[in-house]
Amino acid sequence: MTKLLETVDLVTNFYTYEGVVKALDKVSLSVKHGTTFGLVGESGCGKSVAVRSMMRIIQEPGKVEEGRILFYPNAGDDSQAIDLLQKSEAYMQSLRGDSISMIFQEPNAALNPIMSIGDQVSESFLFHRKKEMCKKINEDLSSANCRTIYPLKKLLQTLYRIAGKKPDAWLLKVIGRIPIFKRWNKRLRQEALRRSVEIIEKLGIPHAAEIVKRYPHNLSGGMKQRIVIAIALACNPVLLIADEATSNLDVTIQAQILELLRELKQKEISSVLLITHDLGVVAETCDRVAVMYAGNLCEVADVKDIFRSPKHPYTQALLNSVPKLSQEGELQSIEGSVPNLVTPPSGCRFHPRCKQIMDICRREFPKLVEVGTDHFVACYLWTDQPRD
Ligand SMILES: Nc1ncnc2c1ncn2[C@@H]1O[C@H](COP(=O)(O)OP(=O)(O)OP(=O)(O)O)[C@@H](O)[C@H]1O
Ligand SMILES: [Mg+2]
Repeated sequence: MTKLLETVDLVTNFYTYEGVVKALDKVSLSVKHGTTFGLVGESGCGKSVAVRSMMRIIQEPGKVEEGRILFYPNAGDDSQAIDLLQKSEAYMQSLRGDSISMIFQEPNAALNPIMSIGDQVSESFLFHRKKEMCKKINEDLSSANCRTIYPLKKLLQTLYRIAGKKPDAWLLKVIGRIPIFKRWNKRLRQEALRRSVEIIEKLGIPHAAEIVKRYPHNLSGGMKQRIVIAIALACNPVLLIADEATSNLDVTIQAQILELLRELKQKEISSVLLITHDLGVVAETCDRVAVMYAGNLCEVADVKDIFRSPKHPYTQALLNSVPKLSQEGELQSIEGSVPNLVTPPSGCRFHPRCKQIMDICRREFPKLVEVGTDHFVACYLWTDQPRD
């Protein structure tokens, strides 16, 4: 499996009045093409900061201080890495739209309350898939049952050919204003709406043709989240990042959305990066998982290895705090809470809560080392090497 998005020793701080919040400390993650990668950990562990840093959407007073963020656009070719920290904001904007889409917990924040659903999904198609749509319209115009009169048909075909190659050509903007040619834009909008209905239907919302006429406030939470996914998919991303995208929804809708993500992973998108604090979701959805604690990675492994033989005491504690059907007696919660990251504990950040603490854990930070095939752990129970 080849790399898609990778961070190397990423450090992100927030400069607040209380002090510097050391939110990410040398985090190295690697999401591969064709996989679903889960990022788990308690609230405040730095999951959102990690993905926001990767996408360079950390807001003030936050700053990515060190490390590298590498994007590998071509599956199967690890030699062509693009260092995203060296790229312009314009490049990042096009990457965020065209190759990587993000969906968040709160669908209302992603939807425009005064635009119809159809217009919002269509906009995404018009922005990211114009070339593809122009090609399709041109094919329709060439087909035998197209009734447009010949000279107009030829002119329209020329316009779509130009738009297919260069969607922002100034000529198109000028011509689009001439009344008789307005229909060239209209056809594009119709095609975008047709695709919007199609994708909404695919996402399991019945009566999609009706739904596109509605506004966000007319829809339920689960429906709104599906629309957000539709907008994200319209961009045709290679990676979909879902940050707690199902946490706000009730359990049945959550299960449906996760099922949907699984299906989409197989058909529409190459990879998914799923951020959640729900280990059940990880078990059902992910191939590989990284466990985070207080801005550090504790353990990274394939999902079956994490569940069968968790190595890090934090991973073990997380798993013990999940209710199981076979379990008798009380659920074991993890004692204590996530530390204040302005003054994180010395050495291993988990040591104040760890039941297997040793002397070295207070002094030195453990390196993430491979303890089994593709199974990495940062803990002195498994390694004797401090981090550089
Ligand atoms: N804008 C900010 N200013 C200051 N500190 C911040 C800011 N955003 C995040 N942090 C800090 O960064 C750390 C990681 O936060 P983050 O939002 O990534 O956690 P999370 O793992 O996503 O939690 P949750 O599961 O609740 O979403 C926290 O200690 C948080 O206080
Ligand atoms: Mg978060």
